[in-house]
Amino acid sequence: MKPAGQLTADEQSAILAERYTLRAEVYDAFWSPVIRPVGERLLSHLPLSRATKIIDVGTGAGALLPLIQKAAPKATVLGVDRSEGMLRLAKQKHTGPLALMDVQKLDLPGDHFDAAVVAFVLFHLPFPERCLQEVQRVLRTGGSIGTVTWAAEFPPPANTVWDEELAAAGANLVELPATDSAARSDSPEKMASLLKQAGFIPGEIWTESLEHRWQAKDHFEYQLRSTSGVRLQSLSSEDGAACLQRVRDRLSRQGGDEQYVFRGEVVLATAVK
Ligand SMILES: C[S@@+](CC[C@H](N)C(=O)[O-])C[C@H]1O[C@@H](n2cnc3c(N)ncnc32)[C@H](O)[C@@H]1O
Repeated sequence: MKPAGQLTADEQSAILAERYTLRAEVYDAFWSPVIRPVGERLLSHLPLSRATKIIDVGTGAGALLPLIQKAAPKATVLGVDRSEGMLRLAKQKHTGPLALMDVQKLDLPGDHFDAAVVAFVLFHLPFPERCLQEVQRVLRTGGSIGTVTWAAEFPPPANTVWDEELAAAGANLVELPATDSAARSDSPEKMASLLKQAGFIPGEIWTESLEHRWQAKDHFEYQLRSTSGVRLQSLSSEDGAACLQRVRDRLSRQGGDEQYVFRGEVVLATAVK
């Protein structure tokens, strides 16, 4: 694989989609519950009840689709994403249409949707402004968009234990994510500017704090089935087992629920075309 700096934007998006496909089940089980409550609050700020056509841009495993459908029972809700594995899981939650496409280049007619949701997607995109321009194009005049993206993330202290022990054991690093454009939209001012640049009239823009407390066993399984697990596999089985034991020992010595708490700050916004 080419070094990250030499990849085109399209290649970066393709790699990211493949990573999501590989981890779709883990994402759905362990990460979706962290961010879904914020997505749900965003929905409550959008005029969905009378909408008849809604698009969930970067729908992922479809965590928000049933909630959107509940808020707009008569609407056709289209979920789009570039990851086949994520869409496979979305299909289990949603009877409406789903489509595999890049959110920076929507293969959809203009002036069509009443509302669009863009939850936890912009920070992933090489060109977040292109996604917003595309959403603006496919919305009808007067249609609404709701977005939420990261301002800051504070992973649980237990992650550091995993990272330190894996590094000490000589495990390979896993480069993540393919693209990180979080700095383009990590404050209300930047979000407002991106929305205006795409032709929207910004509405409410606010920040919220997010907290998620994992059960110790869930956090352990999440690590094992995601990046830490991949790193562990780069070690011999003997070294991997010893490393895992050191992680367990340190976590139980440190004890306390605080080491499994994720905290974050998010920027939410609504705007109108
Ligand atoms: C953090 S998940 C959020 C999923 C969902 N919106 C939610 O709130 O649960 C980000 C999603 O964006 C998708 N994504 C990232 N870049 C994309 C692109 N260029 N085109 C389409 N989908 C993309 C990923 O495949 C992933 O499913």
